[in-house]
Amino acid sequence: MKENRLQDKQKHRVDFLQLMINSQNSKEMDSHKAMSDLELVAQSIIFIFAGYETTSTSLSFFMYLMAIHPDVQQKLQEEIEVTFPNKETPTYDALAQMEYLDMALNESLRLFPIAGRLERVCKKDVEINGVFIPKGTVVMVPSFILHRDAAYWSEPEEFRPERFSKKNQDSIKPYTYMPFGSGPRNCIGMRFAIMNMKLAIVRVLQNFSFKPCKETQIPLKIESQGLTQPQKPIVLMAELRDGTVSGA
Ligand code: HEM
Repeated sequence: MKENRLQDKQKHRVDFLQLMINSQNSKEMDSHKAMSDLELVAQSIIFIFAGYETTSTSLSFFMYLMAIHPDVQQKLQEEIEVTFPNKETPTYDALAQMEYLDMALNESLRLFPIAGRLERVCKKDVEINGVFIPKGTVVMVPSFILHRDAAYWSEPEEFRPERFSKKNQDSIKPYTYMPFGSGPRNCIGMRFAIMNMKLAIVRVLQNFSFKPCKETQIPLKIESQGLTQPQKPIVLMAELRDGTVSGA
């Protein structure tokens, strides 16, 4: 992989792998701080693992929510048609400005945050609200539970994109909504993931509408361990917007 890149005449590619390779040879970098080849490969693999399953599972949850909330799906399709008439190819700037798409995606990530809990290791002994936490303790933050806590969200099990409207979003308490984590070690791929998902949603909903079918599990049962995932695959009916029907 690295050899191919080194032979590549276009050494000025701007991507993550190229930046890592360049940093190995940078004169500004202390030699003991430069990445080894093994670290470079490890970082690349982490990116693939952290990026694919998270995005595709979040998209599956999103389409499930569209199928069981046809009113939201229709409103979103209307916004898509106004923003990109006649199935125009989406652009970055226009995607970033779509308010309802942003609201619906945020709300979907509230109900189904892929990382249902976040973890940090305590760096020094500390006491918080009378609870002593010794250095080295792994502290777990239950984001899935916080996202559905009735103390912070009215009727938390309901899918309501309006929670994230410009008018309402300021009333969301800090640290009660963390689909991408929080702080200096939050998801490094967040902006890319959001844009990637928005593009996929617009492209798919320009052409298809989703409906539940007899195989659709409603309400969805979620795995209690590991990543937030459905216990059974999500099965939906995809209806081509010109009227044709197919399974998905
Ligand atoms: C819907 C998509 C995604 C979701 C919901 C998601 C969520 C998360 C969460 C919750 C964390 C832990 C943050 C924390 O502990 O505060 C994380 C970390 C991370 N994510 Fe994502 N992620 C997504 C997509 C991606 C993509 C596309 C990439 C790479 C291109 C990526 C790369 C990473 C990496 C490298 C970390 C570790 C960061 C660190 O430890 O400093 N993620 N992600």
